[in-house]
Amino acid sequence: MKALGIETSCDETAVAILERDGRVRVNLVSSQVAAHAPYLGVVPELAARHHLEALPRLLAEADRQAGLGDVELVSVTRGPGLIGSLLVGTCFASAYAWARGLPLTGVDHLEGHLVSPFLDLEGAPAREIPSPVLTLVISGGHSSYFVLEEGVARPLNRTRDDAAGEVFDKVAAALGLGYPGGPIVDRLAELGDPEVFPFTPPRIKDPAGALDFSFSGLKTTVIREAQKLGATPLPDPAHPPQRVLDLLASFRATVAKWLLAPLDELVARHRPRLVAASGGVAGNRAVRARLTEWGRAHGIEILLPPVALTTDNAAMIARAGQLRAARGELDDPRALVAYPRAPWKATSGPTGKPVFPRLPGA
Ligand code: KG4
Ligand code: ZN
Repeated sequence: MKALGIETSCDETAVAILERDGRVRVNLVSSQVAAHAPYLGVVPELAARHHLEALPRLLAEADRQAGLGDVELVSVTRGPGLIGSLLVGTCFASAYAWARGLPLTGVDHLEGHLVSPFLDLEGAPAREIPSPVLTLVISGGHSSYFVLEEGVARPLNRTRDDAAGEVFDKVAAALGLGYPGGPIVDRLAELGDPEVFPFTPPRIKDPAGALDFSFSGLKTTVIREAQKLGATPLPDPAHPPQRVLDLLASFRATVAKWLLAPLDELVARHRPRLVAASGGVAGNRAVRARLTEWGRAHGIEILLPPVALTTDNAAMIARAGQLRAARGELDDPRALVAYPRAPWKATSGPTGKPVFPRLPGA
């Protein structure tokens, strides 16, 4: 079904239109970065107000670009995320679907990230998702490998502390580089030498968590090194000294290396048809380069979303909605419930529970 996608779970207001075959016709994102930047993080109340103001504007623009007249399905993120922001999106989508008599489907934000590598922004239809797929979701809230099999996603590991994106944001905040920190650190790391600062990998004692991630030790070490360099915060964030650039390059390379550490073992266990990555950190240059190199060395296809679809967007929500609707998973526009926290939990171990059991209110 031709789908309208709406995403408002955090600090991006996004609207997209996808053709029946998953071709992306319109992909609009209104970023709130400027509104939240002075606070070095997202202010929930400001985010909700921005969504309320931006959604009608984006919808009108989407209509102008591709026409909403023949849309057959409305798909919206129902969680997890900031509850005020989610309520704006779900109420808006529910009212729109109800008023036009269109079917509605509420999708999990993670479900969106999981399908994003199969989308294209150059006018090609969405790719079929083969089975099984091993996929690494790395964002501000997630750092986990999932196996995706016949439409069911199971988490295979998790982070014991900070998510990958969170670590980039916290290091950048300590250095006074601004928010969100991931893209800024990524850009500055290009100018440094990644070999200068060697970091020791974490040791996780619990044998069940052998494949888990842990980034908070690295974060503390990097911030301590930055302190020694008088860089917390940097006196002139626009021109960090070479030692700081080397520190950022070493930090980025270490995160990329650790993210790939469980890959050999997970590929041996699950024999995936391809390996994918998604979420904001999947836009990181070092992560992309390392994954691509790994794929070449192992003769396994690596599928990365276009960089514009790594961060939050509505095209992925529209696509997840199309797949959900094709399975008959529709929601009542008078009763769609948003949820701030995932009703599932990423667990460790090779037999993680499916992450999309019946959602509350479904
Ligand atoms: O997927 P996303 O937009 O939102 C969540 O669902 O969390 O991811 C945002 C996160 C932020 O922590 C941001 O700093 C990080 O992804 N990020 C990056 C890059 N681009 C975004 N981290 C490292 N390198 C990047 N190029
Ligand atoms: Zn996200």
